[in-house]
Amino acid sequence: MATLWLLLGFLSLFVLSSSTCPDHQKQSLLLFKSTLLNITRTTNDSSSSSAFGLESWNSTSDCCLWDKVTCKSSSSSTAPVVVALLLDSLVSTDQPVVVPSAVLTPLFRLTTLMLLDVSSNHIQGGIPGDGLASLTKLVRLDMTQNNFSGSIPPQLFRLRYLQYLDLSENMLLGGLSQQVGYLRDLRTLKLDDNFLGGRIPEEIGNLTELLELSLSSNSFSGRIPASVSNLRQLQVLDLRENLLSEQIPSEIGGLSNLSTLALGKNKFAGGIPRSMQNLSKLETLMLENNLLAGEIPSWIFDIKPLNILFLGGNGNMLAWSNNSVTAPKCMLSQLSLQSCGLSGEIPLWISAQKALVYLDLSKNELRGTFPLWLAEMDLGTIILSDNELTGPVPHRLFQSLSLSVLDLSRNNFSGELPKNIGDANEIMLLMLAGNSFSGTIPSSISDIYRLLLLDLANNRLSGDTFPVFDPDAFLAYVDFSDNDFSGEIPVSFSQETRILALGNNKFSGKLPRNLTNLIKLEHLDVHGNEIGGEFPEFIIEMSSMQILNLRNTSLQGPIPNSMSNLKALQILDLSGNSLTGNIPPGFGNLVGMIDTPTKFSSISGVFTFPVQYIDLIVNWKRSVQGLSSNPSIDLYSLLDLSKNQLSGKIPASLGNLKGLKILNISSNSLSGNIPDSFCGLENVESLDLSHNNLSGKIPQSFEKLQQLAILDVSNNHLEGPIPKGGQMDTMNDPKYFANNSGLCGVQIGLPCPTEPVKPSAPTSEDNSDETNELRFAWEGAWFGFPLGFCLSVIVILLTGWFPARALSPARRGRRRRHAPSRISVRRIGS
Ligand SMILES: *[C@@H]1O[C@H](CO)[C@@H](O)[C@H](O)[C@H]1NC(C)=O
Ligand SMILES: *[C@@H]1O[C@H](CO)[C@@H](O)[C@H](O)[C@H]1NC(C)=O
Ligand SMILES: *[C@@H]1O[C@H](CO)[C@@H](O)[C@H](O)[C@H]1NC(C)=O
Ligand SMILES: *[C@@H]1O[C@H](CO)[C@@H](O)[C@H](O)[C@H]1NC(C)=O
Ligand SMILES: *[C@@H]1O[C@H](CO)[C@@H](O)[C@H](O)[C@H]1NC(C)=O
Ligand SMILES: *[C@@H]1O[C@H](CO)[C@@H](O)[C@H](O)[C@H]1NC(C)=O
Ligand SMILES: *[C@@H]1O[C@H](CO)[C@@H](O)[C@H](O)[C@H]1NC(C)=O
Ligand SMILES: *[C@@H]1O[C@H](CO)[C@@H](O)[C@H](O)[C@H]1NC(C)=O
Ligand SMILES: *[C@@H]1O[C@H](CO)[C@@H](O)[C@H](O)[C@H]1NC(C)=O
Ligand SMILES: *[C@@H]1O[C@H](CO)[C@@H](O)[C@H](O)[C@H]1NC(C)=O
Ligand SMILES: *[C@@H]1O[C@H](CO)[C@@H](O)[C@H](O)[C@H]1NC(C)=O
Ligand SMILES: *[C@@H]1O[C@H](CO)[C@@H](O)[C@H](O)[C@H]1NC(C)=O
Repeated sequence: MATLWLLLGFLSLFVLSSSTCPDHQKQSLLLFKSTLLNITRTTNDSSSSSAFGLESWNSTSDCCLWDKVTCKSSSSSTAPVVVALLLDSLVSTDQPVVVPSAVLTPLFRLTTLMLLDVSSNHIQGGIPGDGLASLTKLVRLDMTQNNFSGSIPPQLFRLRYLQYLDLSENMLLGGLSQQVGYLRDLRTLKLDDNFLGGRIPEEIGNLTELLELSLSSNSFSGRIPASVSNLRQLQVLDLRENLLSEQIPSEIGGLSNLSTLALGKNKFAGGIPRSMQNLSKLETLMLENNLLAGEIPSWIFDIKPLNILFLGGNGNMLAWSNNSVTAPKCMLSQLSLQSCGLSGEIPLWISAQKALVYLDLSKNELRGTFPLWLAEMDLGTIILSDNELTGPVPHRLFQSLSLSVLDLSRNNFSGELPKNIGDANEIMLLMLAGNSFSGTIPSSISDIYRLLLLDLANNRLSGDTFPVFDPDAFLAYVDFSDNDFSGEIPVSFSQETRILALGNNKFSGKLPRNLTNLIKLEHLDVHGNEIGGEFPEFIIEMSSMQILNLRNTSLQGPIPNSMSNLKALQILDLSGNSLTGNIPPGFGNLVGMIDTPTKFSSISGVFTFPVQYIDLIVNWKRSVQGLSSNPSIDLYSLLDLSKNQLSGKIPASLGNLKGLKILNISSNSLSGNIPDSFCGLENVESLDLSHNNLSGKIPQSFEKLQQLAILDVSNNHLEGPIPKGGQMDTMNDPKYFANNSGLCGVQIGLPCPTEPVKPSAPTSEDNSDETNELRFAWEGAWFGFPLGFCLSVIVILLTGWFPARALSPARRGRRRRHAPSRISVRRIGS
């Protein structure tokens, strides 16, 4: 709060004056305006000229009266000069406009500037060091949320009056969050040198007046320079989300005025420096997701003003000292002790934290029951996933009108879900997967109007009646898989429902036509239920469908050729049914399997906002790792028709599906040759044609399948040489070629008549492991990947809010724009 005071004080220095501003300053500003207009015009943005908010900037008026310009006279006798320019968000963030940093050049002539804010403008290129160096009077410089790249120019360290320096988020995030889909994309991009990064220069210590320094969400690496100890006035040091490493310098403990120290999501190693005990004004301490080790010092909890504390998380190996924390002196509002080795019951001292709204104790070894005192605290967010908690969830918990996130996934909670669950009608995310809950789903759950995500997977829930949700509800994600539900497939969800997972239950009867009421459905999984009947033709009307899993659902009859209407379909699993007839040639037109898919749009289309702040990964199903730990998995396109009764020839058109990663048509009655066109399956990694009646030769063109890792053609009538060259040379597991009519090749140690003898290939052990791995991928991990991400973003939104504000009180107004749009802010915020 001290910062806010200072800022207000600073602004109050400005005295508006009626006399005109210096002409050269006016001309510079007009030049800036026209340069900016020029840029956006050439990028064909007809609406932007009015969107600038620079309408008042015209040559006939006094520039001291213009919007976004503040003037001041140093004394009553001198003429006013421009001292502050608030030029943030001039360029609409909705259009991907590229603004070169040269656009700022005219501004550098305004040497009287004390405050310059050019944040959120899509500006790209290096930070113009020489230009900035001429603004010697600068007190505040805000360049956040742009696309600046390179390192911090040394000229910046000559700005000796600088008190606020904010260069955060120069990684396309600000405006382009819609396009930047997944964290993983970001991570790959981040390795690029298109970001602001490099080392934090030792000269940072020259800026001795600094009160706030934020370099968060960039690519800074190396250590924090010891010269930070010169920044005696520093109140906010925000270096989150960079690649900083080595130990946290003990010098930080000397910054006695520090109220925010945010170092989370870096690669800091070593212990938490003891010197930090001296930070007696610390309000926010974020050290999560680093490589820190050692014991969590109990003195942290003796820092009286401490309000937000994030420790633990991925990477950190901090250990909880069992008994040392009993009566903290701080009064926390947010506490995250994810994977901190907590054991025993949920610590009782938390009950004395009366201001707490956010609690994350996930990934520990907590045992015992859900304490009543915790239910009575009326928290906003409770995350207890991945512990060993047992027993029922208290009814009292759902009497809370504050609860918005409840994640109890992967414990062993049991008993029925409280009937009053719907009383907690502020819940947005309800995650109870992987427990032993039994009984039916309380119908009151549909009273939770804001519910976005309902994950009840992997419990012992049963019953054949389901809550009826308002079609206008927000429910985007429903997972009831792996329970004992029965009766008809429920369809009474919301028009917003994108993901519906009902697999491995005891549902029966045909898929209801009313599924088409879920007009945004992208992902339907009903595998392992007794659906039966003919292939539901109405599915071709569900044009948003990206993932359709009807595996093992007793479907019969032919597959409609018109399936090719599902342009978005990237994953189709129809295996283990009794489907008959041909493989529809129309499959060759499935656009989603032709284009090399990069990601699923999924819920991310609804929630558009930058990835910031805490990394809370909310997984679904058993894929605990979700996104950050499985970067190698990117199976976005798959076609599995195995274990059916399909017959006839393989349509050559399947070779069009060049985006496919997995094609499995094994265990059918397919006959004829393997189409030569299969060499068009550029991305295929696993191709299973086994257990059919295929004859002829394996096309020599298979040598072109550069991604191929598994080729199974066993149990057919194939003959002749196994193609050589490319990946084919590594296909050396005889098992995958067995039971044919005379296949030969060096790969299987069975030289063809004309070939020389070669030593036989390695054993098959490794390869079978590989198969398992691929199947595992499909079952869980990769599936959870994009979803895990989306959800983590949602939670970031719900919870990351507070740190965001705590970090930059002055920025509150502007952040609003970048907060989750549509659902989260407008509709829910109402
Ligand atoms: C604007 O663009 C036109 C042509 O593209 C150019 O002649 C003019 O100099 C530009 N003006 C500014 C201020 O950059
Ligand atoms: C330019 O913008 C107009 C209207 O916004 C649009 O119709 C047109 O297709 C755009 N042209 C190009 C080349 O992007
Ligand atoms: C310039 O702006 C002022 C107000 O800011 C307005 O009164 C005046 O009409 C404008 N002049 C022109 C030529 O647009
Ligand atoms: C930093 O300060 C030192 C001494 O105070 C000075 O010698 C040096 O030139 C300064 N560096 C920069 C980049 O201004
Ligand atoms: C950001 O800048 C880099 C290079 O500095 C460029 O490759 C990238 O396309 C820019 N992105 C946007 C959205 O302007
Ligand atoms: C810390 O803050 C106090 C009060 O805000 C101020 O008087 C003092 O100069 C600051 N700097 C140091 C090094 O204590
Ligand atoms: C804390 O500060 C005091 C003086 O203010 C100093 O004597 C002491 O060594 C510091 N403690 C640590 C752990 O740095
Ligand atoms: C805390 O107690 C648990 C078992 O009760 C033990 O495994 C763990 O090592 C202890 N932690 C510390 C830091 O002593
Ligand atoms: C979970 O709880 C149920 C019921 O309380 C019990 O039967 C089961 O054994 C527990 N499972 C584990 C893995 O502890
Ligand atoms: C199917 O949806 C329609 C409205 O689209 C509704 O009138 C009808 O009752 C629903 N049928 C079933 C069985 O839910
Ligand atoms: C297929 O689903 C049935 C339930 O409909 C289940 O009992 C069976 O185990 C499943 N089979 C496979 C191979 O998954
Ligand atoms: C193809 O599907 C069958 C049956 O569903 C399965 O057993 C086999 O492992 C799959 N092949 C590959 C390579 O995954």
